[in-house]
Amino acid sequence: MAQKIILDCDPGHDDAIALMLAHGNPDIDLVAVTTVGGNAVLEKTTKNTLGILTIAGITGVPVAAGCVRPLIREGEDADVHGESGLDGVVLPEPIMELDRRHGVDLIIDTIMEAEPKTITLVPTGPLTNIAMAMRKEPRIIERVKEVVLMGGGVHVGNWSAVAEFNIKIDPEAAHIVFDAPWEVTMIGLDVTHQALATDEVVARIKALNTPLSEFVLGLFGFFQEAYRDAQGFEFPPVHDPVAVARVIDPSIVGTVRAPIRVEIHGDYTLGMTVTELRPAHIPADCNTRAGLTLDADRFWDLTIDAIERLGKAAANG
Ligand code: BDR
Ligand code: CA
Repeated sequence: MAQKIILDCDPGHDDAIALMLAHGNPDIDLVAVTTVGGNAVLEKTTKNTLGILTIAGITGVPVAAGCVRPLIREGEDADVHGESGLDGVVLPEPIMELDRRHGVDLIIDTIMEAEPKTITLVPTGPLTNIAMAMRKEPRIIERVKEVVLMGGGVHVGNWSAVAEFNIKIDPEAAHIVFDAPWEVTMIGLDVTHQALATDEVVARIKALNTPLSEFVLGLFGFFQEAYRDAQGFEFPPVHDPVAVARVIDPSIVGTVRAPIRVEIHGDYTLGMTVTELRPAHIPADCNTRAGLTLDADRFWDLTIDAIERLGKAAANG
């Protein structure tokens, strides 16, 4: 049985690939997509989402726009996605309409209408929508199967020396998510910095030779330069689909059970995901896990397979 997921995203080049992996893999049933302000303002991340779904031929999935800004702080654009939030490609006119509900309500309705413990939440942007949904309908906490989120890091930061972008943009929302009694797996930078779009990966995508693979090459071309300029990477890390891959096949990401707390006060550590790795301080009922390792070959096999499947289906109309 395919696993049902809600993808809450802020596209973003790597969010785009997460959407493709989620819909292009037969073991995932993408039941809803919600957008949040993050890499760019909400209007742009929502426009980008509709364009990505259109080019990838992803129809029949409700899409709703969520929160415009973080719970308390001002939003900030990320440094690696360009002016549009998705520079490097031309988006098609969307062929679908937005769901009329607010994204937070789409999340709540989808979870409350499904059998308990059948929906996995996969947030790949700031956690504002998820935190708002938890406050509006706290019963979702016991009904969700698990939360597998891209964000944070055990040993690595990118939006400060110790904090990752998605968490740092809305640390209070992240605190709410990590503090709740549900299963949370953190797919942080320790893992996603191993998901590099190398020359070999790019060559495999080029060989697919579909309009969708061309689109992905446009994304990766921009992303490579942006990551080189902003963060000194030779090849760009494609973060967000790693969270989807973890749901498809948990053995792709090596994790440890560990309490994770989000720093919401520090002058220098705001947004840090503080991970307790000392064995004596890890309770038996610890409900959070931190990702540490990635089987990058299997990750790319899954991702390229999904791009191929979607690309052929879209090309055949
Ligand atoms: C995360 O921040 C965003 O720029 C990416 O889309 C990813 O979700 C990586 O820190
Ligand atoms: Ca993202």
